[in-house]
Amino acid sequence: MDHFLYRGGVLHAEDVPLAEIAASVGTPFYVYSSATLLRHYRLFDEALEGIDHLICYAMKAASNQAILTTLAQAGAGMDVVSAGEYLRAKAAGVPGEKIVFSGVGKTAEEIRTALSGGLRQFNVESEPEMEVISAVAQDLGKVAPITIRVNPDVDAKTHAKIATGKSENKFGIPISRARAVYAHAASLPGIKVVGIDVHIGSQLTELEPFEIAYKKVADLTETLRADGHDIRRLDLGGGLGIPYARSNEAPPLPTDYGALIKRTLGHLGCEIEIEPGRLIAGNAGLLVSQVIYVKEGEGRDFLIVDAAMNDLIRPAMYEAHHEIVPLIEPAPGVEEHMYDIVGPVCESGDTFARQRSVPPLAAGDMLAFRSAGAYGAVMASEYNTRPLIPEVMVHGDQFAVIRRRPTFDEIINRDTIPEWL
Ligand code: LLP
Repeated sequence: MDHFLYRGGVLHAEDVPLAEIAASVGTPFYVYSSATLLRHYRLFDEALEGIDHLICYAMKAASNQAILTTLAQAGAGMDVVSAGEYLRAKAAGVPGEKIVFSGVGKTAEEIRTALSGGLRQFNVESEPEMEVISAVAQDLGKVAPITIRVNPDVDAKTHAKIATGKSENKFGIPISRARAVYAHAASLPGIKVVGIDVHIGSQLTELEPFEIAYKKVADLTETLRADGHDIRRLDLGGGLGIPYARSNEAPPLPTDYGALIKRTLGHLGCEIEIEPGRLIAGNAGLLVSQVIYVKEGEGRDFLIVDAAMNDLIRPAMYEAHHEIVPLIEPAPGVEEHMYDIVGPVCESGDTFARQRSVPPLAAGDMLAFRSAGAYGAVMASEYNTRPLIPEVMVHGDQFAVIRRRPTFDEIINRDTIPEWL
C-alpha cells in the first residue's frame, strides 16, 4: 500500500495534490511520500520482530539525503556500495556501526574512507579484496570486521541484468570454495570474520529462490562454525520484489519473507541483517510528467511526454513496466485509448510503454509513472543536456523540494575549456 491516492478525482501524494507540486516546481519531477517510506521500513522491522536484526536500507535504490535522513531517524542502517554512498549515509546521521559496505570493486581508498569513519562490516566479494582490506586496516592500526559474500548458485528467476546469485555472475565467491576462503580470511591479520553474506538478485517475486539460498547459508554456518569460525551475523541481502502492475503481480509480503528467514535461519542464534532497497523506496515514489504533444502516427498514436529515458531508464534498460496514470481521474465510463508513451530523447529506445491503454490525454495533461521511487532518480543522467529533474518529498500536507532542478548555466559552467582553445 502506498499513499498516492485519488481524492476528489485528483491524484494526491499523502495530503498534497500533485498538481500543486507541479505548479510550484514544474514538470517533470520525482515525488516521494515519507509516510510510505516509513511504512515499508516498519513492515520489515515488524516481520523480523523476535530476532536480533538490523535493516540496512540499500541506498542505491534512492539516495537523496532527505530519504536517508527519514529512514535513519527511524533507526535504519544502510547498505552502501561506494565511498560516495558511505559519506551520504554518514551525512544523514547513520552511525558507522549501522553501515555495511557491499560491492565487487571497493578500492583501497574507499576501504580507507570507511575504516577511518567506522563501519559495521565489509561484505567481501573476493580474495584479492580481502587482502587489500587487511592491508589497509593494518596500515590504520585497525581490524576490519568482514563477512564474505557467498554465491549460492541459485536462480533468482528475475531479469537477467539484476540476477546476481548464479555461478556465472560476477558476485561473491562460489559457495563450494567457502571453507578455503574462510580459512584464508582467518589467516589475515587486519580482518576479523563476523559472518556470511548472500544476495541473489533483485525484484524477486517468489520466496523459493530465497529459501534455497538461505538453507545453503544455514548449512554453511554450521560447517564454518565447526571449522572454528565465529559466525554470528548473517547478511541476507535485499531483493524482495514489488508489484509494478497492480493487475497481475502479487509478490510475497515482508511478513512472509520474515517468516521464511525465521524458519530457515532462526535456530542459529545469529544477528540477521537484510538490505532491502526497492521494496522500501519503489512504491514510495512517482515520476510526474506532462504531455507535450499527442502525435498521430501510422497505425498508432504517440503521447510525447516531457520525461524521458534519461530521467527513468528502467523501461529502456530492463523492459520494465511502470503503471502510468493521469493526475486527473477520468470520469466513470470514459473509454481508454491506446498509445505509445515516449520521451523527447533522440532514440527509439526512449519509450516508456508501447500500446498502453490509458484514458485519453491531450497536450498539457499531466500523468504519473508509478513505482518509480527506486532506481529512478539515482539512475538518471543529463543525456541530451536535459537537467536532472527535481525531487520533492511530501510529509502529510507539506512538501519540500529535496533536490532542485539545476539551471542550464550550472550545467554549462561545470565544464572547463582548455587554455589552448
Ligand atoms: N544488496 C545488494 C548487495 C545489492 O546488490 C542490491 C541491489 C540490494 C541489496 C538491493 O536490492 P533490492 O532490495 O533493491 O532489490 N537498477 C535495477 C536494480 C539493481 C539492483 C542492484 N542491487 C532496477 O532498476 O531494477
